[in-house]
Amino acid sequence: MIYFDNNATTPIDPAVFEAMQPFLTTFYGNPSSLHRHGRVVKTAIEQARQQVGKLVNVEAEQVVFTSGGTEANNLCISAAVCSGKKHILMAATEHPSVIEQVRDLSTHGFMFDELSVDHDGVIFEDDLEASVRTETGLISIMHSNNETGVIQNISKLAEWANKKGIVFHTDAVQSVGKIAIDFNALKVNLMSLSGHKINAPKGIGAVIHDKKTSLSPLLHGGGQEKGLRPGTENVAAIVGFGKAAELAQQGLEQRSEHLVQLQATLEEGLRGVNGLTVVGANTDRLPNTSQILTENVDGEMLLMQLDQKGVAISSGSACSSNSKKSSAVLKAMGFSDALALSAIRVSLGHQNTQQEVLDFISALKSILNQST
Ligand SMILES: Cc1ncc(COP(=O)(O)O)c(C=O)c1O
Repeated sequence: MIYFDNNATTPIDPAVFEAMQPFLTTFYGNPSSLHRHGRVVKTAIEQARQQVGKLVNVEAEQVVFTSGGTEANNLCISAAVCSGKKHILMAATEHPSVIEQVRDLSTHGFMFDELSVDHDGVIFEDDLEASVRTETGLISIMHSNNETGVIQNISKLAEWANKKGIVFHTDAVQSVGKIAIDFNALKVNLMSLSGHKINAPKGIGAVIHDKKTSLSPLLHGGGQEKGLRPGTENVAAIVGFGKAAELAQQGLEQRSEHLVQLQATLEEGLRGVNGLTVVGANTDRLPNTSQILTENVDGEMLLMQLDQKGVAISSGSACSSNSKKSSAVLKAMGFSDALALSAIRVSLGHQNTQQEVLDFISALKSILNQST
């Protein structure tokens, strides 16, 4: 099976699995316990915190472990509550874990606006400036989009927000491990990460914070994660996330370059296919993500045909794969319903090979010829 659905999730790296195993068996202590069973586990968590911090160039104390990217986004949005202001701005193309949390706050007295994007999925900077109000307390704009891979100019947008004293959050779940991400260089106050997008297990993520932005905990209980995320820690997953972060950081240059080459082969190979468009082809994009639209094709049907040929891809975001609704992201970019429903997303991983890309191109071409 060719696995080209790495934006949905990635396989656990064997070295990550190996690092986790002792924390599911031998080292079962509670990190809050003062005896040696607790201490050994606590030390492992702190090492993981350093490893994750290093991946995005922050100190360990700036890392708060959460149950994943969804919780990290929800927790970051809570900064709006702490800001004392009642207006939130976000991109129309955000992940549902941002959009739905903001919508929920709007039932509790908050107002929000969605920033529109151009045909390549890029925020209109003028629109951001025009949409800010005196009561804007938080701006949330994702670093790169999970469906299209389109990258926003976060440092520029965040620098502008800093000058206005507005908290800036970016969801970097899809960017880390694929391209270099430096929290400080991006000038953001808050960032969300997820383990299972970088070969760690599912159910672990992190908020990265600048040490001065206040957050309102979603859960209440003990004092774990400095009270920002109470609850006994998911130790093995944290250790796995740390190991995966270390591997991603050490191998970043090589992995990025490999993805660039795979994507070049893929998109070169697709160039001759009639009626086919690669979304966001004219702007900065992750080197692993190619969203493909094909006129007069049903994306879901294409996905199933590719599945029969041994290729696993997605028709868009994993969450919307079960419902036949065209992607809100593509709609925001101005694509018609019909074209948006033809979307398939190829998301490569560093473990993929050139041969797999060539096999995929042949499979896709043969299916499209059959259906025309
Ligand atoms: C951009 C983005 N943000 C957040 C998430 C949520 O992360 P998790 O699955 O760890 O909750 C995802 C997952 O697909 C994502 O792609």
